[in-house]
Amino acid sequence: MKRRKFLKNASLSGIGLAIGNSLTNCAETSASKGVSDPLEEASLPLVIATWDVKNATAKAWDILQNGGTALDAVEQGCRVEEANEKGQSVGKGGLPDRDGNVTLDACIMNQNGDCGSVVFLRNITHAVSVARKVMEDTPHVMLAGTGAEKFAIQKGFKKENLLTEASKKSWETWKIKSEYSPIINIENHDTIGMLAIDKAGNLSGACTTSGLAYKLNGRVGDSPIIGSGLFVDNEIGAAVATGLGEEVVKTVGSFLVVELMRQGKTPQEACEIAIQRIVNKPNSNYKNFQVGYIAINKKGLTGSFSIHQWFSMTKFQKGVNETIQSNYFNKDA
Ligand code: GLY
Repeated sequence: MKRRKFLKNASLSGIGLAIGNSLTNCAETSASKGVSDPLEEASLPLVIATWDVKNATAKAWDILQNGGTALDAVEQGCRVEEANEKGQSVGKGGLPDRDGNVTLDACIMNQNGDCGSVVFLRNITHAVSVARKVMEDTPHVMLAGTGAEKFAIQKGFKKENLLTEASKKSWETWKIKSEYSPIINIENHDTIGMLAIDKAGNLSGACTTSGLAYKLNGRVGDSPIIGSGLFVDNEIGAAVATGLGEEVVKTVGSFLVVELMRQGKTPQEACEIAIQRIVNKPNSNYKNFQVGYIAINKKGLTGSFSIHQWFSMTKFQKGVNETIQSNYFNKDA
């Protein structure tokens, strides 16, 4: 099922009905869900991304196959989704905040541990590319709001209205009731995160989002926060998050996944432990929100895991571009 279709129709009780026939444990299902076998020799290059984004991974693969860098691959891959007006969670066409403003968050990180990010960026479609310019052309890591927009325009980015008719309509429908309940709403989280290893064996990652739909004006999530939404360590591996950003920030999720891999965990084990960390927090109300991680290690082994069903990872490796349903924690819904 396409993520949008699911998200549109889903309620948490709906998830419960859908997962009733797959009550097997994590260890049993991980292999059948396309997770790398730790003993299998991984093949480079490869790219993975959150959700079903085959056009984006195809773009990244093209670059990698032609000897391009992982950094170029993840930037160009993310740009595909940022330009896709039908996607209402990233770039142009993203759903606005409660006041009708589309505000974007994005970050990028290369094999040297350099990184750049933008938060609360308005009127510029390709937030990931602005983040790359912050990394490469400034002594800073993060630019916000009007400063980020001014910087982007100075760098030649085009100013555009990001609120499409479809997203405006969705917002106007939302405004009738104005129910601001991000905690129980898992519909809004489709951040695109992408991780790649190039032919030279170098890792890079990127992450881009319009964030939580109908959020409070000024709200920023995990996606532009290095260590939360994304972390890359070229010696170990990389991880990226999607889902309710507040919960990812509270556990510094992507950094945690990479550090677990440093301690010897496989990418799959690391993603599962990081999700457990969220679920096991005192008073965790994990039943009412979604978080998902994908990860890759230096050998090219991959993993993905989420709290609830229907999270997926797209992987392009050995010429095959496939979307794989992730295994998940909550089998009781
Ligand atoms: N993970 C995206 C956000 O919460 O904004």
